[in-house]
Amino acid sequence: MDENSAKSEGEEKVQESFNITLRPIALPDVDDFMVWATDDRVTKFCLWDTYTSKEQAVDYIKNQAIPHPWLRAICIGDRVIGTITVDPCSGFGSCRAELGYVLAHKHWGKGIATRAVKMVVSTIFKDWPHLQRLQAVVHVANKGSQRVLEKAGFQREGVLRSYVLFKGKPIDVVMFSTLGNHSSVG
Ligand SMILES: CC(C)(COP(=O)(O)OP(=O)(O)OC[C@H]1O[C@@H](n2cnc3c(N)ncnc32)[C@H](O)[C@@H]1OP(=O)(O)O)[C@@H](O)C(=O)NCCC(=O)NCCS
Repeated sequence: MDENSAKSEGEEKVQESFNITLRPIALPDVDDFMVWATDDRVTKFCLWDTYTSKEQAVDYIKNQAIPHPWLRAICIGDRVIGTITVDPCSGFGSCRAELGYVLAHKHWGKGIATRAVKMVVSTIFKDWPHLQRLQAVVHVANKGSQRVLEKAGFQREGVLRSYVLFKGKPIDVVMFSTLGNHSSVG
C-alpha cells in the first residue's frame, strides 16, 4: 500500500504513537487473548459471550483460531491486542467474505482498528484472487465499528432487518462492503 496516499485521520493517530503488525495467533498468546475475551465492554456487540475461563480460550485458539481460514492477531511488538478475521461466505457462486475484528479496550480510540482493516483490504484480494467483495455486518448500535469501516473506505449499503441472532434475539445490522475490482480504500 502507498503509505502516503493511504493516510487518513485515524491512521495518523496510530502512527504518532506506534505501529501494529498482523500475524497468526498461537497458544502462548492465550493470556493476551483473555484480556479482551473476558471484558464485557468488548463483547457487548460481539456474537459470542464473554469468556469465563482460560480453558475456553485455549480451546478456541487451538480448535478455531489456529485452523481458521484467515485470522490474524493484531500486535504491538509481539503482544497481541486483538484479532481480525476474514470468513469466506459459503454458497454456490460466492465471491464474498466477511470481515470481523476485536480489540482490547485499553487500545480503543487510537485508530488501530482502522489501520488493521486497511492492512487486510490491501492484501486479502491478492491472497484470495476469487474474492470480489469484502463485507462487514455491524450491530446498528455499534457506532464505533461503523465509523471504523467508513474511515477504511467501506461503503455503507443499508440496514438489514432481523439479520442475525444476537445473544438469542434477532437484530438489525448495517451492511458495509468494499470491492476488489476498484480502489475504494485509501
Ligand atoms: C470497534 C472497535 C474495533 C474499534 O476499534 P478502535 O481502534 O477504537 O477504532 P478506531 O480508533 O480506528 O476508530 C474508532 C472510531 O469510532 C468512533 N467512535 C467510537 N465510539 C463511538 C460511538 N459510540 N459513537 C460514534 N463514534 C464512535 C471514534 O471516535 C473513532 O472515530 P474518529 O477517528 O472519527 O474519532 C473496538 O471498539 C472494539 O474492539 N469493539 C468491540 C468489538 C467490536 O465491536 N467489534 C466489531 C464487531 S462488527
